[in-house]
Amino acid sequence: MRIDDPAHVRAQYLTEEHLETRRSVWHPTADGRDPATEALAAIVAENPLRVLEVGPGTGMFAVRLAAALPHASLTTIDQSERFVEMTRARGIDSRVGDAQDLPYADESFDAVAAMWMLYHVPDVDRAIAEVRRVLRPGGLFVAVTNGDGHVAELRVEAGGEPVVTAFSSQNGEEQLRRHFAEVERIDLVPQAIFLDSEAALAYLRSSDEPVEWRLEEFTEPRAYDGEATIFLCR
Ligand SMILES: C[S@@+](CC[C@H](N)C(=O)[O-])C[C@H]1O[C@@H](n2cnc3c(N)ncnc32)[C@H](O)[C@@H]1O
Repeated sequence: MRIDDPAHVRAQYLTEEHLETRRSVWHPTADGRDPATEALAAIVAENPLRVLEVGPGTGMFAVRLAAALPHASLTTIDQSERFVEMTRARGIDSRVGDAQDLPYADESFDAVAAMWMLYHVPDVDRAIAEVRRVLRPGGLFVAVTNGDGHVAELRVEAGGEPVVTAFSSQNGEEQLRRHFAEVERIDLVPQAIFLDSEAALAYLRSSDEPVEWRLEEFTEPRAYDGEATIFLCR
């Protein structure tokens, strides 16, 4: 099983259960910074009129975009029918589709966001090329991803290994520079807080990896470091 195997991705996101289990543990960095809020601020600062979010999941970030940019036209595309339905239920335009084959004309958007999704795409280079194509020259692409150190301490403690993906804090910049002249990055260490060992195991098991996760029981909250990067590309 690979994180970019389409069958795994489809199964993982047939419903919101796994995504919600993982999302619920995340808290800002020690100095109060949060990757999604940084991404939102970067997009809002552009005052874009046409915005695309690729892989919106349940649509939470899209709702924040819509509230912050009331005059913009916002659309989203996700491979999961359930997520498209949930995003539409929040009043956001959404359709089923593939990041590797975006059904939009060249230069259709002023800003594009792809949050924690490029590591799921089999051909990352093609997906980045598609974003470049649908973005107007000088438009902003915001890609958020995790690094190899993301909850690595917990993963190793629980009998696994750090997760290394095809689009990460470590390898993402080089891939983006093939398509964008400017790439800035913001690296953050968000905190995963688990109230007890069962919550940590539920988090680890939610990704359906072929690992027998096991942890010594704990009943006091514990925090583990994440590793997230916001790439800002033009
Ligand atoms: C880890 S979730 C992140 C969801 C959301 N962006 C968030 O931050 O909560 C990955 C999302 O990307 C979507 N996705 C994965 N591969 C995709 C592809 N090739 N094309 C479109 N969406 C895809 C999944 O269905 C899921 O909604």
